[in-house]
Amino acid sequence: MKIIVAKNYREMSKIAADLVVRQIKRKPASVLGLATGHTPFELYDDLVQAYRRGKVSFKKVKTFNLDEYAGLGENNRSSCHYYMKNKFFKKVDLSKKNIFIPDGRAADLKKECAAYERKIRRAGGVDLQILGIGLDGHIGFNEPGSNFSSKTRLVKLAESTRRANAKYFGGRALVPQSAVTMGLGTILKAKKVILLASGREKAAIVKLTLRGKADKITPASVLRKHPQVTVILDKTAAELIKLPK
Ligand code: F6R
Repeated sequence: MKIIVAKNYREMSKIAADLVVRQIKRKPASVLGLATGHTPFELYDDLVQAYRRGKVSFKKVKTFNLDEYAGLGENNRSSCHYYMKNKFFKKVDLSKKNIFIPDGRAADLKKECAAYERKIRRAGGVDLQILGIGLDGHIGFNEPGSNFSSKTRLVKLAESTRRANAKYFGGRALVPQSAVTMGLGTILKAKKVILLASGREKAAIVKLTLRGKADKITPASVLRKHPQVTVILDKTAAELIKLPK
């Protein structure tokens, strides 16, 4: 596991964007695993800039998002799909047929989850997975207690997650109770992973993830079993871990 400590959020985002661009240059038909939330916000801005400057093309790239709220579709302003569309998809040359996000409005969510796993497999698996981390250590929406071998499935959101995401919904009561998420086992299959964390409020969970016990209580600790993880932290998120000089 490689740990990079950036000066600040801006630098963290830039380092991550450079790694994504490098991946696509090496393999233009890369399969990217994508996250939403505050953490990758400027990473997407940087990727859009890189595209506009002609440094990268997403023409052959496929994307698979980690998760979606149950019951929300792409036109709901709080959905992961809406975020991705407005933040990234419509600003680059990705082809619509290469964009995959679980459909939170599917009539049969169980079937939707199984189909999503098949689509990832058919695409050849994720080459590079981008992750943020929740205050309780969730990655995707794999809350504490999730099995390390779990697959894409419908999960109940932790109250702390609903509270943290209330800002996207105009109040906690409006945050859905459940979501579809790639599983920890699905994430572990990605060939490479980038985990991002920014801000002092993430410092404790970053410490637990990287230095605590690797178990179900801290879902992100599953990444310690992965051979190719790059953790990119800003200074404040890294302030509780000791790093070799
Ligand atoms: C989002 C996702 C979540 C977030 C996590 C951190 O697709 O899968 O695991 O990465 O909740 O969210 P932020 O970045 O808003 O702190």
